Amino acid sequence: MSKLVVEQVSRIFPGVAGGEPTRALEPTDLLVGDADFVTILGPSGCGKSTLLRIVGGLETPTTGRVLLDGRPVTGPGAERGMVFQSYTLFPWLTVADNIAFGLVEKGMPANERRSIVEEWIGQVGLKGFAHHYPKMLSGGMQQRTAIARALANEPKILLLDEPFGALDNQTRALMQELLLSVWEIHKKTVLFVTHDIEEAIFMGNRVAVMTARPGRIKSVTPVDLPHPRHYTMKTSPEFSALKAHLVEEIRAESIKVAEQVA
Ligand SMILES: Nc1ncnc2c1ncn2[C@@H]1O[C@H](COP(=O)(O)OP(=O)(O)OP(=O)(O)O)[C@@H](O)[C@H]1O
Ligand SMILES: [Mg+2]
Repeated sequence: MSKLVVEQVSRIFPGVAGGEPTRALEPTDLLVGDADFVTILGPSGCGKSTLLRIVGGLETPTTGRVLLDGRPVTGPGAERGMVFQSYTLFPWLTVADNIAFGLVEKGMPANERRSIVEEWIGQVGLKGFAHHYPKMLSGGMQQRTAIARALANEPKILLLDEPFGALDNQTRALMQELLLSVWEIHKKTVLFVTHDIEEAIFMGNRVAVMTARPGRIKSVTPVDLPHPRHYTMKTSPEFSALKAHLVEEIRAESIKVAEQVA
């Protein structure tokens, strides 16, 4: 049985101020196995965030359903850890308290919390910053904290919506490697939205490509690059061949978007 089942999920948003409704997602399916790392690639506005928010329980589907370990998702929950592009840490809490947030909610005793928080601070490379507040951190450090906060709760699945989209290229590359090294240790099930083709290939075990809006998943391409992955793989012939294939897939959809706007 798949860890995550997305079954005929669609979403229509009501029109704003009497306008036309927006068809954000066509009925779409996706199966994600345990410890799989699926990246979702698609043109701007195709419904990537909508799909991820539905899986996260932050948005309800118009049709269809989402099952996690066979149980329907009906709202947000600690079993699904989310990380967004914009920095969403609690500004009034330190790095350590941000990471501990879900554990406090669960009622975990302070000494147990402390060791988990310390462990995650180490894993995401934030030693020495436990008592810093978010505004004292760079964007990359804030995202490290957000990833640690999501993973400290031991979610069944990690959902990331362009988590590195606001970072400069160097920081982004380092964050990709960091997240991969964490995945290689913990083997979490991950859904990762991006519109960067190289990022989708480098991170994913499979790359799901969405059509232009109203989006649906039109293809899923396996990425047979071995783990552990290293940035030098980005220049390998296998990587280039995958990239060429996905560039074509995405280009067809981006042209549709350009035609819709024109
Ligand atoms: N709450 C909402 N109310 C009305 N329309 C919405 C809402 N959220 C999203 N939409 C619309 O649904 C469509 C899909 O939006 P979504 O944010 O899912 O796309 P996306 O693929 O994540 O785009 P991007 O690549 O720019 O992040 C867009 O046309 C958007 O305007
Ligand atoms: Mg989005």
